[in-house]
Amino acid sequence: MTKDATALVRSQFGVAASDYATSEVHAKGESLARIVELAAPQHSWRVLDIATGAGHMAAAFAPHVANVVASDITDEMLAQTAKLAADKKLDNIGTAKAEAGALPFEDASFDLVCCRLAAHHFPDLGRFVSEARRVLKENGRFALVDNVAPDAQQLLGASPSEIVDATAAYNTFEKLRDPSHGHAPPPETWIGLLENAGFRIVAREQFGKELDFKSWVTRMRCTPETITELERILVSGPQNLRSFLKPRRDETGALHFTLQELLVIADKIA
Ligand SMILES: C[S@@+](CC[C@H](N)C(=O)[O-])C[C@H]1O[C@@H](n2cnc3c(N)ncnc32)[C@H](O)[C@@H]1O
Repeated sequence: MTKDATALVRSQFGVAASDYATSEVHAKGESLARIVELAAPQHSWRVLDIATGAGHMAAAFAPHVANVVASDITDEMLAQTAKLAADKKLDNIGTAKAEAGALPFEDASFDLVCCRLAAHHFPDLGRFVSEARRVLKENGRFALVDNVAPDAQQLLGASPSEIVDATAAYNTFEKLRDPSHGHAPPPETWIGLLENAGFRIVAREQFGKELDFKSWVTRMRCTPETITELERILVSGPQNLRSFLKPRRDETGALHFTLQELLVIADKIA
């Protein structure tokens, strides 16, 4: 990862760390309980959470396993994770500074590697998947949740080139809100990356995640100009992007939209 990319992530997330600690989307999102259920953790397991943010997923797994290493490249996020672990009296959570594409851990040292709502920041998804596989024990389990771009199921009737355009428009929209956003591919790209790296898919689900526009932009400390432009795109941007994001106003006039989260459980195969 280049120094610039690392600095961008740290500057975005360093100031926003405490907001991620209280964000409902991160602390209580539907995928959090479901990923624990589908990963079927065992008491003896050693777990690595990559890009733990404020530590919500590490805290969700901790009561079910022997220990969790909660890792991230942003110090302020690791401090939030340590605070969450202390508040919840989860003394089997430790923190470690680690970049997703160059993990500072021995080969075959974890039973489960998980990563939630973060991979779209990583500069090289192939390296991330291969590092996750390297640090997993034989038959180890990988549990991934991330926002995904539109596919043919989301945009019924759209041509392949319209879907490619909608994927680009979606990533541009995300990057405008958060300059450290890298790339969120459509679901099939994740499946291909995992299978090609030596994983067998054991479960796969997709959720629509409802977002409140105001808290979404506030969490990333967007400027008033950026907020105006993001709202313009949501309300009158490309048709296929709007079909995907489903913008709508509630009775108070507040704007809401939907993102898609993909959840994949995959086992390491020889
Ligand atoms: C949205 S937060 C993660 C949310 C968290 N996993 C959860 O479930 O609540 C994204 C995190 O990714 C981290 N991050 C971004 N790029 C990274 C990288 N290349 N390696 C490790 N962590 C990274 C950021 O520092 C930030 O803490």
